[in-house]
Amino acid sequence: MCPRRARGGGRPLLSGQEVDMGDWREATTLEELYEAIKDCMACPLGRTRTHLVLGSGDPEAEIMFVGEAPGFHEDRQGIPFVGPAGQFLDQLLRSIGLKRSQVYIANTLKCRPPENRDPLPEELSACTPYLFKQIELIRPRIICTLGNHATRTLLRTGTGISQLHGKLIRKGGLAYVPLFHPAAALHKPPLKAVLVEDFQRLKEHLDAERVRWEAEEGLPEETLTAAEDQPEQMGLF
Ligand code: URA
Repeated sequence: MCPRRARGGGRPLLSGQEVDMGDWREATTLEELYEAIKDCMACPLGRTRTHLVLGSGDPEAEIMFVGEAPGFHEDRQGIPFVGPAGQFLDQLLRSIGLKRSQVYIANTLKCRPPENRDPLPEELSACTPYLFKQIELIRPRIICTLGNHATRTLLRTGTGISQLHGKLIRKGGLAYVPLFHPAAALHKPPLKAVLVEDFQRLKEHLDAERVRWEAEEGLPEETLTAAEDQPEQMGLF
């Protein structure tokens, strides 16, 4: 179920409950988006969450990381990736000279599924419009999808993370680098080294992209493709 927008306003409904969320699609900043959706009841996770976890970091980040869903610690604190997987993500960021405050971190689902179970299709379809809105506001240069759920959701692919990890994939005018989820590496230690190596590749992709962006920035506006100008019209949003 998608968060539905009643004509003239956004009122996601969950049988018997109605929350006036204003028109979240009109938000022009992440703060406005958070204020508009923080009481979301578009799916049953709204009933069990402590906090809706929108995301954290630089609202103008070049790199955005997208995980699966908040866990116990994230739900309590309202901040993504603050548990053990988040500590490993921080280490990986440091390994390529980045701080958490220089990137933006979000999830496909904004509310914690009970017992951290996998997101359900109806939860994903209710929640991903918020993720697309975040991407539209942040306009990151590279989106790193962490694990299979985020990769499938954003790249709309059936190909698994084992085949895609570490590669730069262009789709709809955006560049994606799928990575193993840091939590997977905590359960399967051999994946730690793969993630460390993939972060080095991410740094190489980022350096190469910066050269590309600089070249593009020298071009007159009209030579940029419509796709790059208007990501929301590229079929992804
Ligand atoms: N795992 C995720 O996918 N997201 C979080 O925020 C924390 C753990």
